[in-house]
Amino acid sequence: MPTVHFRGREIECDRGAVLRDVLREAGESPYNGNASWANCRGVGCCGTCAVSVEGPVTHRTKMEGWRLNFPPHDGQLGVRLSCQTLVLGDLWVEKYPGFWGEEMPEAEDDETEGSD
Ligand code: FES
Repeated sequence: MPTVHFRGREIECDRGAVLRDVLREAGESPYNGNASWANCRGVGCCGTCAVSVEGPVTHRTKMEGWRLNFPPHDGQLGVRLSCQTLVLGDLWVEKYPGFWGEEMPEAEDDETEGSD
C-alpha cells in the first residue's frame, strides 16, 4: 500500500488512487486559499491543484499536458495536477505558494563564490 508524504503526514492509499482524492480524504488539500472552492472539481482544466511530486505516478493525461502548458504554469516546471495523477508507489508531495501553486522556489545556483 503506497504512502503519500504531505505536510509532515504519512497518508496510506490504494495503488492507482487519484492523488487529489487521497489528499482530500485525509483532510488535506492540494489547493491554496480561494482555490479550495474555486476549482474545476477534478476535471483537469483549472490548474489549481498543481503540486510537486516525487515518486512513481502515471504519465500526464492529455488534459493535464494542455493545462500545464499555459500561464501561470509552464510545462517545463515539473508540477503535476493532482486530479490527473494516479499514485503508483510512495510519494513525496509538496504544494507551492500562489493561487495555482505556481510559485516554485528559485533553483539553487551551483556556482560557489571563489570556486574558479
Ligand atoms: S482540480 Fe482543476 S485541474 Fe485539478
